[in-house]
Amino acid sequence: MTAKTHGFGIVGCGVIAPTHADAITRLDNAHVAAVCDLNEEAGKAFAEEWNCDYYKDLSEMVARDDIFACNILVPSGLHAKLGRVCAEAGKHVICTKPIDITLEAIDDLIAAADANGVKVGATHQNRNFPVYQRIKRAIEEGNLGDLLYGNAFVPWYRADEYYSQGWQGTWKMDGGGALMNQSIHYIDLLIWFMGDVAKVTGFADHLAHDIETEDCGTAALKFASGAQGLIQGTTCTYKGSPARIEIHGTKGNVLVVGDEVAIWDVEGEQEEYNPDAGMSITGASDPKGGMQENAVHSHMEQIGDMIAAVEEGREPTLNGQEARRAVEVILSIYISSQNAEVVELG
Ligand SMILES: NC(=O)c1ccc[n+]([C@@H]2O[C@H](COP(=O)([O-])OP(=O)(O)OC[C@H]3O[C@@H](n4cnc5c(N)ncnc54)[C@H](O)[C@@H]3O)[C@@H](O)[C@H]2O)c1
Repeated sequence: MTAKTHGFGIVGCGVIAPTHADAITRLDNAHVAAVCDLNEEAGKAFAEEWNCDYYKDLSEMVARDDIFACNILVPSGLHAKLGRVCAEAGKHVICTKPIDITLEAIDDLIAAADANGVKVGATHQNRNFPVYQRIKRAIEEGNLGDLLYGNAFVPWYRADEYYSQGWQGTWKMDGGGALMNQSIHYIDLLIWFMGDVAKVTGFADHLAHDIETEDCGTAALKFASGAQGLIQGTTCTYKGSPARIEIHGTKGNVLVVGDEVAIWDVEGEQEEYNPDAGMSITGASDPKGGMQENAVHSHMEQIGDMIAAVEEGREPTLNGQEARRAVEVILSIYISSQNAEVVELG
């Protein structure tokens, strides 16, 4: 086994933190060196569980020489701010999704990383799920032909208690609701498959929860390629049902339901049809859906990619600019909804 040379510092010991700690610990060349949380009780308990040191003060944690990178897992509106503290201390930065909630903050983090000679990346675990890797390969190899139509539907559910915890559903810390927090996983995939979005028109409303931000969002997209698409994301369906991604090209149709292939109908390939797709447990109704085994594996790959990027002197595959794309689309939906206009991106 390779020596565990790369120490990681986890910033924020809440719901998603165990997934990162588990992924880091399972990597051959990494370990959790320290954690930081303003909540001493949560931070100390987490440090004990993962056998590492606890800090309340982030600047003290990042002063350690044995920390290679920090995983920023605090409420979304703090990602760039705390990421900057880490970058200025010479640590590479890995933010969970969304990388931050404004383009200004994201650009500031990228600039801080550049200025301090460190790398910034993000975790969007779905990209590394085998099913989405398979679609990406099929697109890159031209097997689906010219892409004409791509849709992401996220008809999920979150109980009122989810929104009463503090920062969720607030503009300041969540930066949005069903689109910015939950649907971003699938919006990121849609852009990754279909390419840049050129124009957006949409609606974002709160229909069922007493929150500031949207619990229901719908948008029509025109991609830079000329293709069209749809995004629908909500946290107010009855019980929540599986997310769906549909990609339609001149040579193939792919439908994924709940991260499983439901239809794979591609020219020259045997058609696959799985009526049970999406029946496994997902984030449809469970805020901890991101902690499943496949999510830990994807996090291992994306965190491992940061180590490889540094060793190979390249950008992380999912770097700051790449993670910025989904946030830009989501913010454009909000602007379109507020101003009742078609928004042009870029
Ligand atoms: N990838 C996924 O599937 C996934 C799943 C859940 C959450 N997330 C993302 O992870 C982030 C955190 O979400 P969560 O559900 O774990 O939140 P959480 O509320 O469960 O935990 C956040 C933690 O950050 C701590 N914290 C807040 N401000 C801090 C500060 N200034 N310094 C240090 N610690 C601070 C809090 O005390 C808390 O322990 C969000 O950006 C969310 O979008 C990603």
